[in-house]
Amino acid sequence: MSNMPLTLSQSHGSFAFVSACPLRHHTNRPYSLHRRTSSTKTQVACQLNNAGQDDKNSSRLIMDRRDALVALGGLYGVTGGMPALADPLQPPDLSNNACKRSTDPNMDPNSDLLKCCPPYQGTPVKITDYKFPKTSLRVRRPAHLVADDPEYVNNYKKAIQMMKDLDENDPWNFYQQAKIHCAYCNDAYDQIGHSGVPLQVHHTWIFLPWHRYYLHFYERILGKLIGDETFALPYWNFDNPDGMAMPSIFLEEKSPLYNPNRNQDHVHPNALVDFKFAYNDDKRPVGEQLIEENLQYMKMTFKNGEPLPELFMGDPVRAGEKVNDDGRASGVLEGIHNSVHQWSGLKEEPYFDLGSFATAGRDCLFYSLHANVDRLWDLFRNRRGNRVEFNDRDWLNSTFVFYDENRQIVRVKASERLPRPV
Ligand code: C2O
Repeated sequence: MSNMPLTLSQSHGSFAFVSACPLRHHTNRPYSLHRRTSSTKTQVACQLNNAGQDDKNSSRLIMDRRDALVALGGLYGVTGGMPALADPLQPPDLSNNACKRSTDPNMDPNSDLLKCCPPYQGTPVKITDYKFPKTSLRVRRPAHLVADDPEYVNNYKKAIQMMKDLDENDPWNFYQQAKIHCAYCNDAYDQIGHSGVPLQVHHTWIFLPWHRYYLHFYERILGKLIGDETFALPYWNFDNPDGMAMPSIFLEEKSPLYNPNRNQDHVHPNALVDFKFAYNDDKRPVGEQLIEENLQYMKMTFKNGEPLPELFMGDPVRAGEKVNDDGRASGVLEGIHNSVHQWSGLKEEPYFDLGSFATAGRDCLFYSLHANVDRLWDLFRNRRGNRVEFNDRDWLNSTFVFYDENRQIVRVKASERLPRPV
């Protein structure tokens, strides 16, 4: 392949390799090994990887940035205010018994892990528009660096322990928080007014805004529990060679941040995350070569995505549309994120915890993985001068509901957490 810029269809082809194993597979067929490691896909990915031979230094330069993300604390402006015209995605109806048992083809359908409905399901709920509080700035730092800040790590551990100790039916409870992710990914809700069309927050342009909010509330709840308004999640800086291993703060067995359900081959300071990781692909590079490949792939993802936000972030989804979950509609950043999930979770089915949407939120590492995805989106926006990626009301007005740090159910719009254009 030449150095031509990627077209959407090429990118989709290569993306199919990266996300060849979407975390969750919605069809009823068991996921075939053949499909996962298909050599055609591998080849497409190699072609992508070889496109655009940029020199090593510039690639390092971009990806070694250790920007502390100025986290979701008050610098972001509201770009909303447009009339809702078309069909933005809407939150589910929480007041009736619309929530169903979740499904996952890799899991026992009777597993309690698939009971993901919120504890207030079926009770009348009051939903209000979220008022963004004016609070202190929260600065997210790289997880591999906060390891040297015992005070911070202790606070984080304390907050997670408190979350785990809450009543199991408390919506703030650690496992209840994890269920939010399960409910929005594993068929618990149909889209309002579109029965049979599940609400799905992956594989499309909704992926980044929904997860930004999910972390926003999670982080604020943790801060509230320990009485620290500046508490910020650490991010897993996997785009930086120093941060490509599983961050050590999550590996201490007695810690509340620990989770045993991880691929034990990767729980090692020398095991580096692989942006193209796919189950049972044993031909992947290691060491320096893997670092170079990761950096190059990330660089290409930014470079190709810059003029084409769909490529970086995913294709549109509008109310009533069923999400195509084979990865073809996903952005390349989401594909890299899928590989990081799969690299981290158990290596055998059912791929708990991180390797499966239904259970991913049960591992604290999840929130650091996503804090980095959120930061990478932020860097992407910065490179585009914070221009809106999709000047489309159906994206900007996509609406979600969450349980907030004041124990209220609140409604938020994608547009309300986007920085102002510069
Ligand atoms: Cu909702 Cu990392 O996935």
